[in-house]
Amino acid sequence: MKFFIDTTNLEQIREAQDLGILDGVTTNPSLMAKEGISGKEAILQHYKDICEIVDGDISAEVLSTTYGEMIKEGEELAAIHPNIVVKVPIIKDGIKAIKYFSQKGIRTNCTLIFSAGQALLAAKAGATYVSPFLGRLDDVSTDGLHLIQEIRTIFDNYGYETEILAASVRHSMHIINCAKIGADVVTCPLPPILSLLKHPLTDSGLEQFIKDSQKMQ
Ligand code: E4P
Repeated sequence: MKFFIDTTNLEQIREAQDLGILDGVTTNPSLMAKEGISGKEAILQHYKDICEIVDGDISAEVLSTTYGEMIKEGEELAAIHPNIVVKVPIIKDGIKAIKYFSQKGIRTNCTLIFSAGQALLAAKAGATYVSPFLGRLDDVSTDGLHLIQEIRTIFDNYGYETEILAASVRHSMHIINCAKIGADVVTCPLPPILSLLKHPLTDSGLEQFIKDSQKMQ
């Protein structure tokens, strides 16, 4: 399973990259706004900066919602670096744009997926990734993992190569459950990834080994 980090914070991206387990980065307009990045030049420069830190797929989201504008914006984003994946919302014009991009060899991440039907349409249009939002479904008392399971079954039934990118992942159990179900990728902030490391028996065991190693010196 691939690990992407879901942030536009360069420090966190560097920290995740330094772990040596990072496969890519996802971003969205809210995450860009949170870092205070605004204006076309600053946005494009920020994606360039991310591409310099991580050698993996970097999702860059279009801000427009009409076909023509999405094509223009997506082509500009894709021209930044070969690792850029154009992130497109699952709307009617978005599906048309994904089809266009796939025919042009531009890779896409279809975002804001909340149903199996949306994922199926995105795969048929040739999306490279679909992003079901696990945590946001859980937030409204709906089983986000069940959606990922449904998409896994559908994609396997028909051999779709579109990868399932589990998004809106909030904690370490989300990551483990996504791995059990067979999501291809999880994307989340750094803390849930780091919490995979934690176990009290590891801490107490290491403490004891350190104490005992002093007796050996
Ligand atoms: C996915 O690509 C989104 O950027 C993200 O995972 C949304 O997560 P959130 O629900 O925590 O905002």
